[in-house]
Amino acid sequence: MPANLCQQRPVADISDTASKVVTLLSKMTIEEKVGQMSQLPGDGGNVSNRLRKTIENGHVGSILNEVNLDTINELQQIAIQDSRLGIPLLIGRDVIHGFSTIFPIPLGQAATWSPDTVEQCANLAAIEASENGINWTFAPMIDISRDPRWGRIAESLGEDPFLCKSLATSMVRGFQGDELSMPNSIAACAKHFAGYGASEGGRDYNTTNIPEHELRNVYLPPFKAAVESGVATFMASFSDLNGVPATANNWLLTDVLRNEWCFTGPVVSDWEAVPQLVTHGISVDRCDAALQACTAGIDIEMASDCYFNHLIQLINDKFISISEVDRIVSRILTLKFNLGLFSNAFTPSTQKANVLNKTHLKVAKEAAIKSCVLLKNNEQILPISKGKINTLSVIGPLANDGYEQMGTWAFDGKASQSQTCLQAIKDYAGNAININYAVAMENSRSNHQQGFGQAIESAKNADIALMILGEEAILSGEAHCRANIDLPGAQEQLIEAIHKTGTPIVLVIMAGRPITLEKVIAKVDAILFAWHPGTMGGPAITDLLFGLVSPSGKLPVTFPRTVGQVPLYYAQKNSGRPPSQETFVDMDSIEVRAPQTSLGMTGTYLDTHFTPLFPFGYGLSYSQFSYTDIKLNKEVIAIGNAIEISVTVSNIGRYNADEVVQLYTRDLVASVTRPVRELKGYQRISLAPGKSQVVMFELHTDELAFHNRKMECKAEAGLFHVWIGGDSSATLTAEFRVIN
Ligand code: BGC
Repeated sequence: MPANLCQQRPVADISDTASKVVTLLSKMTIEEKVGQMSQLPGDGGNVSNRLRKTIENGHVGSILNEVNLDTINELQQIAIQDSRLGIPLLIGRDVIHGFSTIFPIPLGQAATWSPDTVEQCANLAAIEASENGINWTFAPMIDISRDPRWGRIAESLGEDPFLCKSLATSMVRGFQGDELSMPNSIAACAKHFAGYGASEGGRDYNTTNIPEHELRNVYLPPFKAAVESGVATFMASFSDLNGVPATANNWLLTDVLRNEWCFTGPVVSDWEAVPQLVTHGISVDRCDAALQACTAGIDIEMASDCYFNHLIQLINDKFISISEVDRIVSRILTLKFNLGLFSNAFTPSTQKANVLNKTHLKVAKEAAIKSCVLLKNNEQILPISKGKINTLSVIGPLANDGYEQMGTWAFDGKASQSQTCLQAIKDYAGNAININYAVAMENSRSNHQQGFGQAIESAKNADIALMILGEEAILSGEAHCRANIDLPGAQEQLIEAIHKTGTPIVLVIMAGRPITLEKVIAKVDAILFAWHPGTMGGPAITDLLFGLVSPSGKLPVTFPRTVGQVPLYYAQKNSGRPPSQETFVDMDSIEVRAPQTSLGMTGTYLDTHFTPLFPFGYGLSYSQFSYTDIKLNKEVIAIGNAIEISVTVSNIGRYNADEVVQLYTRDLVASVTRPVRELKGYQRISLAPGKSQVVMFELHTDELAFHNRKMECKAEAGLFHVWIGGDSSATLTAEFRVIN
């Protein structure tokens, strides 16, 4: 967006709020202003004398991670009644995928490909959190994530900018509602700005090197969409972007975010990221770190005290102008006014009627149902028919563990309130099926095999072995990266042992990331990938396994065959020597001392295939869908116009089912190399058996725009291919031409 667009936007009404902010600001001391720029952790349900004094003196503007409602009210009371100017506090918390009711992890929510579901989950999370005194969440996390080793992929919305953009917008709407001042709205925070998902080697907090066109074409669009959807705040990333950590990155935080995108809300640092500028090696000390972060565009320092200890001196010494500080503090005060905190910052302690209520549990179950992806279903072993089996052996450490199924960032969910698979299956089966349960391993990463014997016995005596395996919650999330993304511990050996019994295996995987399954896939008959499904995971998975509803989740991220293929994503570039089945050479087929040029000379590995195990967008149903009649309303469109592309989707199977219809394009020749495919539209539809629906997409040339060599964002004239289908390897295709 050219810089002058900022000026063309209607200036926020020089309203009431603006004049209240100006009046308040005129009464504030420098210390009080810097206080607003400081955020401190709570004392875990207490109010220490130190914290009380800090608030009374106006030396802090926001608190994070306090969840005791009485304590929160007490903190607000100190701020409002005992501080000189009575400025209420922002109360921040990581409400990432639910508060008390835990919804599927964000990567699982992305697998729903359902903006409505994602909005609903965020909305209910906001209701529960706001009833608990929280007015600011550090979500959505919208880092494009193409490395499954990175633990934080669990918190992300996957690998694709288009999908992420649309779901980010829904999450912001869900948290913030129509008006921030509504009682159940909380401020959202687009994080981590920007490029964190590209951390080298999938190691958390690591360096990123992202060329500007890649940054603008892939990593920034969800953040820009968040600004456009009215997100209240931003958080800068911990990571180092092309040599300048985001926390001190003036170009990112000011040139792009403020000047190009006209973002007007506050930007918070990540946890202690300001003093970490010293560790990064770009600041000599904490004072220098405060100076660099503040002048780059960090408005609020999270958790550490560089701002409070050094900004006053830096202002007095004229390294930072008071007018800049006033601009920053105005943004923070405006947010507090917008949230309605000056009118009422207190939360009645009797108000928690909504927490974990029936509606919330129903939505949690529906979201979990839509998020599960059926990866394999040999001989239609699924759904399990209640009348056709006598005994079901349920095996695995994740079958009956209410804690682990909640996944990462579920601080406020309670394991005792989760409904597990074992419980739900038993409830559903009643007396009709014998359920034998063997935990087999004490946890998902255990290497002990003492429990195998009981599991093998149980499987031998059953019609089906239902194995519920994967990763426990702690194996993904912040700072929980893995170099090996196979099933952890002795799980592969367990699958082998059960496979040897000859009993068919249905494998349910709960995990916070894609898992490499090549070594086990042939040994199991079906795989249902459930991510960490949250509070209602058990009933959701039970309904799917027994066919009360058909699976409809689609992968929001590519599943590699082996970790050595990473990064592997569908929207790759073609290169000058793209791999193909014809040129692919398997290591075992090479003769000893073969001449160097005998190989295919394309971008393939010798020891694994070049394709993923499961592509982006993939997911089976109990039904089958056919795609026919792709039609375009015109074959040529001028830039600035839209084209309509339609397809007929038919349910040719036997089940009522949802399908996610996906549209991909390719810009065949452009001024910079373009991805071989890019998602440009999707729709989740429901179809009864035998029914067809014409699904229509409107594709505007703005959607075809990308950053060119001059870093202008433009669509270019030329030929485009379009595909529509049920995943990113769709074959039904057509073409159109874009002209100037
Ligand atoms: C994480 C953020 C989170 C913050 C506050 C940091 O360690 O990177 O995503 O919002 O902590 O809990």
